[in-house]
Amino acid sequence: MSKNPVTRRQFLSYTLTGVGGFMAAGMLMPMLRFAIDPVLSAKASGDFKMTDKKIADITSEPVRVDFTYEQKDAWYTAETTSSAWVYKNDNGEIVALSPICKHLGCNVNWNGSEKHPDMFFCPCHAGLYTKDGKNVPGTPPRGPLDAYPTREQDGFLMLGTPEQNPFVK
Ligand code: FES
Repeated sequence: MSKNPVTRRQFLSYTLTGVGGFMAAGMLMPMLRFAIDPVLSAKASGDFKMTDKKIADITSEPVRVDFTYEQKDAWYTAETTSSAWVYKNDNGEIVALSPICKHLGCNVNWNGSEKHPDMFFCPCHAGLYTKDGKNVPGTPPRGPLDAYPTREQDGFLMLGTPEQNPFVK
């Protein structure tokens, strides 16, 4: 007679539980990865993107700098082009302003209105901003233009993700 304390019923139960657990893990792991992948890749959104603007060429006059990069949105990767208005302020700091109007998101232009020289002008609803990106009271925008964090690499300008404008006090 066998001294094995495991009955046939227990053996079947353990085996089926083990196989079932293995199969469940096989199905759940891809689903788990599918669910958390965007969270893991969100960290990359803080990356700096390279532009073709030479630091040495930046003057006190705002110029539009367009730059293209790969943007990953969940599981979809696309080429994206963004812009910044870039200049050096009186303190010699590089200012890179987002062109996105803080009213309803149109693109602002430096010297975009003859009536308002040396200002950023939004053509959609006549929004106005001063050179540092501060919204002019009495025009539709409710806050200053966002600013890109800047960095230099090999003499070229790199831009981060736009954030609250640090140049407007
Ligand atoms: S979207 Fe710029 S003023 Fe309305």
